[in-house]
Amino acid sequence: MDELSLLERLDLQLKGLCEIVGADPRPAGELLTELLGPAGSRPLSEPPAWPSGIADDHTPIEYSVAFNESEPDRLTLRILGEALDTVPSATTNMSAARRFIQAQAGRFGLAVSRFDQVNELFATDDPRGDFGLWHSMVFRPGRRPEFKVYFNPEVKGVHRAPGLVAEALRRLGLEKSYDTALEYAIRPGELGRDDRLTFFAVDLHDQPHARVKLYLSHYNAQARDVVRAARAVAGIEADEIAEFCALAGGGTVTFAGRPLVGSYTFLSGQDRPVGYSVYVPIRSYVRDDEQAYRRVTGLLERYGFDSGQLDRAIDAVARRPLRDGVGLIAHVSLRLGPPRPGVTVYLSAEAYRVDPPRPLLPSLAGEHPELRMAAVRPDPTIARSE
Ligand code: TRP
Repeated sequence: MDELSLLERLDLQLKGLCEIVGADPRPAGELLTELLGPAGSRPLSEPPAWPSGIADDHTPIEYSVAFNESEPDRLTLRILGEALDTVPSATTNMSAARRFIQAQAGRFGLAVSRFDQVNELFATDDPRGDFGLWHSMVFRPGRRPEFKVYFNPEVKGVHRAPGLVAEALRRLGLEKSYDTALEYAIRPGELGRDDRLTFFAVDLHDQPHARVKLYLSHYNAQARDVVRAARAVAGIEADEIAEFCALAGGGTVTFAGRPLVGSYTFLSGQDRPVGYSVYVPIRSYVRDDEQAYRRVTGLLERYGFDSGQLDRAIDAVARRPLRDGVGLIAHVSLRLGPPRPGVTVYLSAEAYRVDPPRPLLPSLAGEHPELRMAAVRPDPTIARSE
């Protein structure tokens, strides 16, 4: 029986990760505490206070380690988190998220003008879909944390998403970039079906690298679909994405499990998006984390990064041998274009549950075993409704 609280477990992992990147663990721990609220003190033997969609086991936090091409900050730590209200629900958590932003704005001097310009568009008494508002926090050595907030384009229903995002981007002066992005990213007739608007994110600072990002999930997609999506951006090597998907997916042709996700980075004053990232939900396409680990270290080495840093990050987070479960390594992403090209590895806290390795069905083991393995367990993200 696990008598640690949620906060105690996550704080231990976070401290270890901060040490690896050289970031100050104090503000990180305090932000974690505030984000979780009273739910943080619940013992892990009790079920999650809220079925957060951040991670498969409903832990409301996910870690990621970004390997960056540019110096300094070759390595940065981020957490993606959902603020939980005292009595968590889709509606109350949205209010908790807004309070969290207000509090951090005061404390860290955040610039919330972009947030304020679009916030009310995504506000509703009856939030739909997987979440209301999420946060990400980036930790670097010797610097204050940086914040981003994620809106859910489908919060008023799937059919409202394209209009909401169009209006949000219009207010931010980015409508031209949006048209370009959709032209490249959407397969014919698939907007709102197999191509979905998943996240709309704004940075809460005003530095020159402040960005707006739009994420699309591509269900049942192939690498060529995200290569095409990336061609909306000038001056990046879109073909690199095909190679990345092939290596991360272990030769998967159609990503029929969890969807491939792509994100565009927008900068004001540009007609086209300036960056593209692809996120491969590697956990749907491996038997276990050892297989995921081998693929990810291969990718890191391919791009000239030190995979020893990933070993250290895994040691800080994992409490089991890699081959004993699947999902610790949740996603791996390739970032192309400014502000920081590189590779990011997403790690689940597994505070509540470890998913067992996927059984390999001998009768199905064939040319593309990854595909069949993904089909063994039902995938909740496919059936998600409005
Ligand atoms: N857990 C959700 C998913 O897998 C949301 C999420 C968390 C996500 N981290 C992510 C989505 C990174 C894309 C990329 O869809």
